[in-house]
Amino acid sequence: MTSPLFPIARPRRLRRTAALRALVRESTVRMEDLIYPIFVEEGLEAPAPVESMPGVSRIPEQQLSRHIKAIADAGVRAVMMFGVSRHKDATGSDSFSPDGLMARMIRTAKDAAPELVVMSDNCFCEYTDHGHCGVIHDGHVHNDMTLENLARQAVVAARAGADVVAPSGMMDGQISAIRAALDQAGYDQTPIMAYSTKFASAFYGPFREAAGSSLKGDRKAYQMDPLNGREALRESLADEAEGADFLMVKPGLPYLDVLARVRAASNLPLAVYQVSGEYAMIKFAAQAGALDEKLVVRETLGAFKRAGADLILTYFAMDIAREGF
Ligand code: PBG
Repeated sequence: MTSPLFPIARPRRLRRTAALRALVRESTVRMEDLIYPIFVEEGLEAPAPVESMPGVSRIPEQQLSRHIKAIADAGVRAVMMFGVSRHKDATGSDSFSPDGLMARMIRTAKDAAPELVVMSDNCFCEYTDHGHCGVIHDGHVHNDMTLENLARQAVVAARAGADVVAPSGMMDGQISAIRAALDQAGYDQTPIMAYSTKFASAFYGPFREAAGSSLKGDRKAYQMDPLNGREALRESLADEAEGADFLMVKPGLPYLDVLARVRAASNLPLAVYQVSGEYAMIKFAAQAGALDEKLVVRETLGAFKRAGADLILTYFAMDIAREGF
């Protein structure tokens, strides 16, 4: 059976040459779309390679200025900063101390490259001795006690010069709490990127090593069940209603359906996070000779754009800045 459209319709006509294919390409990835996540560790002598993420190292705090200049010079436009703390306690108080690691690394980064967009990952898991994303009370992460600390932490980050604060702890009401605190402290122009739809994913495995997390157990009591799509929409729309300036879906590749649905439901700028496990899968497969790394990276980032992402957090951002897309 031939299609009634054939032979009039011949989609292959537009695929004959590279120039024709470029002319009809629907999605493109620009350097401006990419956000590079980095890990900054205090009290470290030399960059420490993360074994489960080939090509990624923790940056010593003392060398941060030099590294930030190199990142900006290579053409990266935005970074998401994670601290690796040596001052952990039950509440993660170092993260909301005005001279704690979070504040110091933001100040250093802004000094080193004022034009670079510095985003602060606002959470507690890298700063608590138990590794959870908030205050433990009666054996659970207590939502509202955590909100109080989160509000303080966001103000500390804004005061240190963060261009964007990005709460990633999946506490209920975290956008409202942060917006109110920022406004009250005079930071009504500091935008909030909500990790709005964040799943309790096994793809974060390598991140736990990278960020030096001491978590035993899981985050299923606050991050979302990977099998829920409708609830994913509900979470993102709640954050929009609370005043988020950006939404995010995380992880990326296993959640393209969610990305497309959030895109259809919201007109806010939408980010997607290609997480540590997605990065590791591509790197190790490429090292084994099973995949062409560059082509696979191009295809995955392109797929995020096709599904509706405006912005992509990816550990490949530095390679792409250096080598082109
Ligand atoms: C902190 C946070 C995590 C990631 C980003 N922010 C870890 C987690 O939620 O367990 C994961 C990023 C990655 O895997 O690349 N809450």
